Amino acid sequence: MYRSHTNGELRPEHIGTNVTLSGWVQKSRDLGGMAFIDLRDRYGITQLAFNMEENAELYDAACKLGREFVIQVEGSVIERSSKNKNIPTGEIEIKVTSLKVLNASKTPPFTIEDETDGGEELRLQYRYLDLRRKPVQEKLRLRNKVSLETRKYLDSQDFLDVETPVLIKSTPEGARDFVVPSRMNEGQFYALPQSPQTFKQLLMVSGFDRYYQIVKCFRDEDLRADRQPEFTQIDCEMAFVEQEDILNTFEGMIQHLFREVRNVELDEKFPRMTYAEAMERYGSDKPDIRFGMEFVNLNAVAQGKGFSIFDSAELVLAINAEQCAVYTRKQLDKLTDWVRRPQIGAKGLVYVRCNEDGTYKSSVDKFYSQEDLAEWAKVANAKPGDLLLVLSGDLEATRKQMNELRLHMGDELGLRNPNVFKPLWVVDFPLLEWDEESKRYHAMHHPFTSPKPEDMDLIDTDPGKVRANAYDLAMNGVELGGGSIRIHDRDIQSRMFDLLGFTKEEAEAQFGFLMSAFEYGAPPHGGLAFGLDRLVATMGGSESIRDYIAFPKNNSGRDVMIDAPSPLDAEQLKELGIALK
Ligand code: AMO
Repeated sequence: MYRSHTNGELRPEHIGTNVTLSGWVQKSRDLGGMAFIDLRDRYGITQLAFNMEENAELYDAACKLGREFVIQVEGSVIERSSKNKNIPTGEIEIKVTSLKVLNASKTPPFTIEDETDGGEELRLQYRYLDLRRKPVQEKLRLRNKVSLETRKYLDSQDFLDVETPVLIKSTPEGARDFVVPSRMNEGQFYALPQSPQTFKQLLMVSGFDRYYQIVKCFRDEDLRADRQPEFTQIDCEMAFVEQEDILNTFEGMIQHLFREVRNVELDEKFPRMTYAEAMERYGSDKPDIRFGMEFVNLNAVAQGKGFSIFDSAELVLAINAEQCAVYTRKQLDKLTDWVRRPQIGAKGLVYVRCNEDGTYKSSVDKFYSQEDLAEWAKVANAKPGDLLLVLSGDLEATRKQMNELRLHMGDELGLRNPNVFKPLWVVDFPLLEWDEESKRYHAMHHPFTSPKPEDMDLIDTDPGKVRANAYDLAMNGVELGGGSIRIHDRDIQSRMFDLLGFTKEEAEAQFGFLMSAFEYGAPPHGGLAFGLDRLVATMGGSESIRDYIAFPKNNSGRDVMIDAPSPLDAEQLKELGIALK
């Protein structure tokens, strides 16, 4: 028996008990004659005590233990003379009577403490050591709790967990596919699924009615804090439903998760906003509504006064940073530099300080009178003490830049509290998106998304205006999930492929199986998928999903621990019939 108790278990009621413990040496202190060791496992830390006078041999052995040695001890639980209120086992210690080294350890490359001295790349290289740290273990525990509660909820709602294949044909979800060569079919490739989209629709055709899967998806796209090349979805689909049924079901799931996992009661009814409104008010399809600072259109009051930059702009847009008139010139210059960075791309930033005495000071005083600026303040609902920040230019670019600036100001002013959770359904997404590069329409969500019946007429005349029965769930500025009501009619699906520029042959080659399934009685259906990594990170109050994944990839998509990707040897390539350029 390696252990009778874990290292998080012993309490004063165990005093006098003989116990066996195993774990890692977190820390050892030799006080000259008395040595103490913190023994760690997943459950906690227990203090071990060694006394030279009582057992010199044991004391010597204890002094020789290094950090991260794996040991087993026997001893009795005694009351601790100096108690540690910070840990649950802090009132007791173990008077050790026997010590066995189960495995020695090299000195770890960084300290395995809550606050470590290791840089990210080093910690990823030795991820198995990083994973010993309590904050990292807690994140994975949170993830476990979320997926467990997800299963419980979906099971209670009659969803069936069905696995779908990983070696498939590419689904056009918008990103690049990862491909896998087939040895048995030389010159042909599988693709790893960007999502199980077509399979879950086929399961509806098969009559499964309610499907879910917690499933790995793969996308070869540029990485960011909230993107990994392989990530996990809570993927769901339902038959005989309308958009309203889906939103209600998954609102229930998200409420259940926050209640069970975080003890947080979310809004009883999640607010909803159309895509068009979200873009107009926040310049984002995933607005962070934990704070206001909504966009204010200044076109009517700022144009036509001789300031050519504003006059020639499609949009003059302001946000009101309340109580920020105290910003110094230096701070404003810094903000200007910030919006001018290539990642944001604004040409400049105009400010208006609404002084406490009712006057205004702006960077464009040359063009605008005090009365003009008072008009701006009125439109923006700015009070004395507030600061207006103004950007201008093309509609889309200006909204995008202002979204970044708004989030940045939200961060600077501490308005984005990670312990406040504000869900928002964004609905009525456009069906299509014009791509300048390829000069054709792309599906904004995916090609299986149903147009709104009332917009059907626009498909031939003004396709860009057609709205879809598609929705996203945003929370705190993160897109947690998204989905749509699907097309379940072969003719409409085939028309959709036309619109997306597929030839009949291409559509048949790629999606013949789906369109033929639609000829055998496909029920009306729809669904959505949540990003589990993003959901867990958001619940944990973080924007970075990497910490919530046991073995994540770095920013260049590499696993630096196992050193992947890596070259194949010549023999393997030959077998696959692949020659490298
Ligand atoms: P979508 O492409 O919107 O929809 O993906 C659903 C959710 O998955 C998460 N996600 C990611 N998380 C981490 N890293 C990534 N690279 C990444 N890409 C996406 C997001 C996103 O909201 N088949 C459809 C769903 C449906 O229509 O039912 C789909 O995959 O949280």
